[in-house]
Amino acid sequence: MKTFSDYLEENDIDYHLYGVLNSLKDVVKKVSDVIKTAETGSAGSKNIFGEEQLALDILADGFVQKELQKNSLIGIIASEELPEEMDVSNEETGGGEYGVCYDPLDGSSLVDVNLAVGSIFGIYKMPNSEGKNSFIGVKGDEQLASMIAVYGPRTTIVLTVKRGVVEFLLDDGEFYLVREGIKVGGGKMFAPGNLRACASRKDYLELINYWCEKQFTLRYSGGMVPDINQILLKGKGIFSYPGYGDAPDGKLRLLFECAPMALLMEQAGGAATDGSMRILDKKLTRLDQRTPIFIGSKEEVERCEKYL
Ligand code: AHG
Ligand code: MN
Ligand code: MN
Repeated sequence: MKTFSDYLEENDIDYHLYGVLNSLKDVVKKVSDVIKTAETGSAGSKNIFGEEQLALDILADGFVQKELQKNSLIGIIASEELPEEMDVSNEETGGGEYGVCYDPLDGSSLVDVNLAVGSIFGIYKMPNSEGKNSFIGVKGDEQLASMIAVYGPRTTIVLTVKRGVVEFLLDDGEFYLVREGIKVGGGKMFAPGNLRACASRKDYLELINYWCEKQFTLRYSGGMVPDINQILLKGKGIFSYPGYGDAPDGKLRLLFECAPMALLMEQAGGAATDGSMRILDKKLTRLDQRTPIFIGSKEEVERCEKYL
């Protein structure tokens, strides 16, 4: 069976990018292990999004940070749990040509009730297209690769190096390729986030009604990673998270969540929009930028654009 490394070698991935992806794969194993038994209480602090951090968020972030700092190919990192982007370049080895942004533990509040959670990673070349060593100014389209790790009954990685989408399964310390050519087409499954918006947004309510009337199957877990993972692997469906009222951009973050997910979805033949613009075309103006997102099969994403 092919391993994670075999897959990268076979696809002739740039040797340096290969090194970055290998670090990510290693840290996924550690996070997968640690969340099994770690404390699930609050850390008593808040992140840049003003959200309460759990001890687990900080712990997972620490593992990722430490692993990425060790890798001299990486010059800059940004995390949903860190206040600023962090220069991790090593002067002795001449800096680092990659930037890695990540959500170390998406859906962390679901760990105590034993639902699936995940990690999200986006990899960019640095300096960015504006010549700066920063994520500010990048578009999701500039990502060289993105991946999610899903911690459920099994630990899996879904990866794109812009050559389609593949899945790996963790088995006895090694990730093995279990699925290639992952594709998302039409089909009646929906994961409607932020239904609170229906109280003030008639357009969103009408869209939800459409899916109900057409007898779509509801598959919503409260964790973006398992929800999008399900759409990718079942090959159908739509995940929505609109904004409303005081939060017109919703909750989900462009850099740490939406852009990496959008790259995976487009590479699987699906689409991702904020309602009027392709997610991967959105330029990052601030680290804590949020965006509404409608992501899944092209057919349903187009429907969202039509309704909203
Ligand atoms: P995080 O745990 O990283 O803060 O993000 C959780 C996200 C995402 O996984 C999920 O889709 C969304 O929050 C659900 O949000 P609400 O239930 O708060 O609407
Ligand atoms: Mn998150
Ligand atoms: Mn998180």
